[in-house]
Amino acid sequence: MGMDVTDAIETRIELREYSDESADDETKRAILEAGRLAPSGKNTQHWRFVLLDRADDLETLADNSPTGGWVADADFAVAICTDPAYGYNEIDAGRAATHMQLVAWERGVGSCMFTVDRATAREFLELPDEYDLTALLGFGYPDREIRGRKSRKPLSDIAFGGRFGEELDLEGTGQDEG
Ligand SMILES: Cc1cc2nc3c(=O)[nH]c(=O)nc-3n(C[C@H](O)[C@H](O)[C@H](O)COP(=O)(O)O)c2cc1C
Repeated sequence: MGMDVTDAIETRIELREYSDESADDETKRAILEAGRLAPSGKNTQHWRFVLLDRADDLETLADNSPTGGWVADADFAVAICTDPAYGYNEIDAGRAATHMQLVAWERGVGSCMFTVDRATAREFLELPDEYDLTALLGFGYPDREIRGRKSRKPLSDIAFGGRFGEELDLEGTGQDEG
């Protein structure tokens, strides 16, 4: 605790290996609350979150994910379902996911987004037809000390001033790389 937002952003990496420790209900609730408090287009809050914390459900998700087999070892997962009729639903899902991931990390819980075979997974989750299975997150405590080292492009490569491609002219030195 005591982690500010910048600390959380700088140190959080996507975690795919977890200890056997289980998060308590209060922690899971705090993570879902963080998603609930995220902004959405026109404040429609069309998202629905499904908490999955049974080992067999995590196995099923892993079996349906070519790139998220690691979720079988997660403590729990959250499926973020959205209604595409509202538009911008993927942005909204991403913002809810980020809120959840930062609050989880504030509490020492690591996480990673993953994709699944949507057709199979949506049937398994019993999604109503109007909902899209937009994002999935695995959560769990780290199995080792996390140093938060990231591979990111320098700010000067990805941020411009005034017009696309024009150099950013800001005082001060940021972290820039890493
Ligand atoms: C939309 C999206 C989909 C992703 N899908 C997967 C996935 O299927 N499997 C996986 O292991 N990681 C997945 N990731 C995690 C990314 O690989 C990760 O965010 C990126 O490499 C940065 O990781 P870092 O913060 O640890 O540096 C996904 C991330 C996003 C934003």
